[in-house]
Amino acid sequence: MKIAVFAGDGIGPEVTGEAVRVLEALGLPGLALTYGDVGGAAWRRHGHPLPEETLAMARASDAILFGAVGDFACDHLERHLRPEQAILGLRKQLGLFANLRPAKMFAGMEDASALRPEISGAIDLLIIRELNGDVYFGEKGVRTLDDGRRQGWDLMSYAEDEVRRIAHVGFRAAMGRRKMLCSVDKANVLETSQLWRDVVIEVAAEYPEVTLSHMYVDNAAMQLVRNPGQFDVIVTGNLFGDILSDQASMCVGSIGLLASAALAEGSMGLYEPIHGSAPDIAGKGLANPMAAILSAAMMLRHSFDLEAPAARIEAAVAEVLRAGIRGADLGGSHGCRAIGDAVLARL
Ligand code: NAD
Ligand code: IPM
Ligand code: MN
Repeated sequence: MKIAVFAGDGIGPEVTGEAVRVLEALGLPGLALTYGDVGGAAWRRHGHPLPEETLAMARASDAILFGAVGDFACDHLERHLRPEQAILGLRKQLGLFANLRPAKMFAGMEDASALRPEISGAIDLLIIRELNGDVYFGEKGVRTLDDGRRQGWDLMSYAEDEVRRIAHVGFRAAMGRRKMLCSVDKANVLETSQLWRDVVIEVAAEYPEVTLSHMYVDNAAMQLVRNPGQFDVIVTGNLFGDILSDQASMCVGSIGLLASAALAEGSMGLYEPIHGSAPDIAGKGLANPMAAILSAAMMLRHSFDLEAPAARIEAAVAEVLRAGIRGADLGGSHGCRAIGDAVLARL
């Protein structure tokens, strides 16, 4: 079990540290952790957010545990040197195209949701976000028009094979759950989305048991807070999935609770909280490490087929929450380390 740990910037090292403590506490045979630099931290030490040696370490590993990247002090840099390029580069270079972002209400946490308890209690959904395409990876630039005005532009596109492979991930996931798949797009305006919808419908023929629906992204944002219980699996593009998953986190209670898996074809995966480096609370010990800890659980499940220890971690986190041990993000007073301690105690 060769795991590359890339903690990154801001709260990345704090929350990843707790996830590593949890992994080590499980006493898994063959666990071997290596540590690499990413993001602003890597730029400072190596002059690049995703140094060659980090990429080589990633390629030589079975899975990656990722913290967060992002550092406002780097926002003036040319785009290819910005911290965010580390995570975008890893996703692209390793073919990590399928992003699983589950959002499920924890028992006893209904009151922590931004939604009313009778609405939040029903949340059990999985956002499947395409991670290698869309406007994220199209050509982009800033040009000066003939009349002297500056114009920023980013090309949005999806090729049919890119849509097809993520649609299959969506349908397969739905088959293992409540057999409902909602494809989210903006086909009423965007050609990229119309092709997306056409291809998803083609793929649906292979999954007759799955009930497929389509929803425009603006409506999906609304339905997610009106009645999130209606969703089982959502499949969507890179940009829409980014936005909807942050929104889903507050339906559950906090962005500090949502984990994710970025999967390639095969068993390779990168596991990270959906949140960022949270510069506003970095270094203060205030970050909730649960999303990072739950990401480690997803790693055991998806890259190593270790369902039992993954479920053990998830049960420990749920118990900690049930015991009322909460970080500041959930209105509590427990710090990052204390939450990690509490999870370890339950394990
Ligand atoms: P963010 O997710 O870092 O923070 C948003 C808000 O949520 C902040 O108020 C923060 O304090 C809070 N928050 C986030 N995680 C938390 C946790 N575990 N516990 C408690 N509170 C938490 O988003 P942002 O502020 O928009 O971005 C900050 C930086 O992070 C930017 O540079 C951005 O590009 C980067 N970012 C990186 C990733 C990633 O590495 N995958 C993801 C998102 C954002
Ligand atoms: C995420 C982040 C990243 C994204 C940024 C940091 C590039 O917001 O992982 O959700 O947009 O994918
Ligand atoms: Mn995001």
